[in-house]
Amino acid sequence: MKAAVLREVGKPLAVEEIGLEEPRTGEVLIKMAAAGVCHSDYHAMVGDIPAPTPVVLGHEGAGVVDAVGSGVTSVKPGDHVVMVWRYSCGTCEPCLTGRPATCVEGARMRRDGTLYDGTTRLHKAGERIHHFLGISTFSEYAVMSERSVLKIREDMPLAKAALVSCAVATGVGAVINAAKARPGESVAVFGAGGVGLNAVQGAALVGAEPIIAVDLIQGKLEMAKKFGATHLVNSSDEDPVARISEITGGSGAHYAIEAIGVAEVAAQAFKSLRIGGTAVMVGIDNPKATIPVPAVSLVLEEKRLVGSLYGSSPPRLEVPRLLELYMSGKLNLDDLLSRSYPLAQINEAYDALLRGEVARSVIDFSQ
Ligand SMILES: NC(=O)c1ccc[n+]([C@@H]2O[C@H](COP(=O)([O-])OP(=O)(O)OC[C@H]3O[C@@H](n4cnc5c(N)ncnc54)[C@H](O)[C@@H]3O)[C@@H](O)[C@H]2O)c1
Ligand SMILES: [Zn+2]
Ligand SMILES: [Zn+2]
Repeated sequence: MKAAVLREVGKPLAVEEIGLEEPRTGEVLIKMAAAGVCHSDYHAMVGDIPAPTPVVLGHEGAGVVDAVGSGVTSVKPGDHVVMVWRYSCGTCEPCLTGRPATCVEGARMRRDGTLYDGTTRLHKAGERIHHFLGISTFSEYAVMSERSVLKIREDMPLAKAALVSCAVATGVGAVINAAKARPGESVAVFGAGGVGLNAVQGAALVGAEPIIAVDLIQGKLEMAKKFGATHLVNSSDEDPVARISEITGGSGAHYAIEAIGVAEVAAQAFKSLRIGGTAVMVGIDNPKATIPVPAVSLVLEEKRLVGSLYGSSPPRLEVPRLLELYMSGKLNLDDLLSRSYPLAQINEAYDALLRGEVARSVIDFSQ
């Protein structure tokens, strides 16, 4: 089968013929339909997210179950599924306290580039190839734990379902679960990419007002309008902190979401808050980055700076709800899916992401 392999940090992905073993106990074989082109995979390509190489990247996806290993009960061949990119064991403290996205076993699998049992199913001529986040969606077929998939209804278009499995769950969740924005409260979103546009959309879903989108690229800001942004701030030609203050009548925003992955922008998000406001860091910067915020604001103004992984709610709970919102016409995925590329053009898809040309694109395995 063909897969996009990262052989070395800093190099483009290589689309190669590689081998895949049968699913073992508790595992499933998925025929991939679509894989989302998320910035997080790019972070792995450039080393900001450390991942053992060689590795098949990709973590946002949807497909059809092709075969199941022994003991699998939640899905059967022919079922349509979306991927859940953080394995959760169900028994560690984060899992037991309702935060399965921070599961310690899932974190181990990310670090080691393996499936749950510490081994890989991917190889090429005797060489071991790693998994990414226990799933590796940039591949025609993928073997993963049954805990890494979620059965979905068959009338849900698979390419759009794929986007819900990362960008939508993350962006909407940052606003509704991490910030907990309420109707009439103000939300500023820094970064109008796949995740940020969904933070804008999450703010619109809860009836926030105003909803301020900040980006360096005017085209991205125009996209944000379609998801409910009421004000657009181009931070390449104006200071977003001053502009957010002005839009909110001098008070600052109730909530500010950083959906880029730049620590300095998280500091801007924090500075754009009103008294008692909360800034949510969703973007992923390199492991050495630190966020400089005025310490006294945390105390005297009770401002908060929090992080949000995978929407800060169990994805197995949230993803099906978001899919239903799309099916009932209350969630905009149609403007989110800008383009689809064949796997052979995955590097071009990332170039387009970096140039800010797309809201979100997918690798379409039928092309
Ligand atoms: N926390 C999580 O669970 C989670 C999940 C998915 C993605 N992420 C992270 O979220 C971030 C965004 O991902 P994405 O796929 O939406 O990326 P993207 O490339 O689609 O979007 C990033 C946007 O930020 C804008 N931007 C870049 N620098 C800027 C700056 N200095 N000021 C204002 N705007 C700027 C770009 O123009 C672009 O529109 C990445 O860091 C990604 O790794 C986190
Ligand atoms: Zn766990
Ligand atoms: Zn992602």
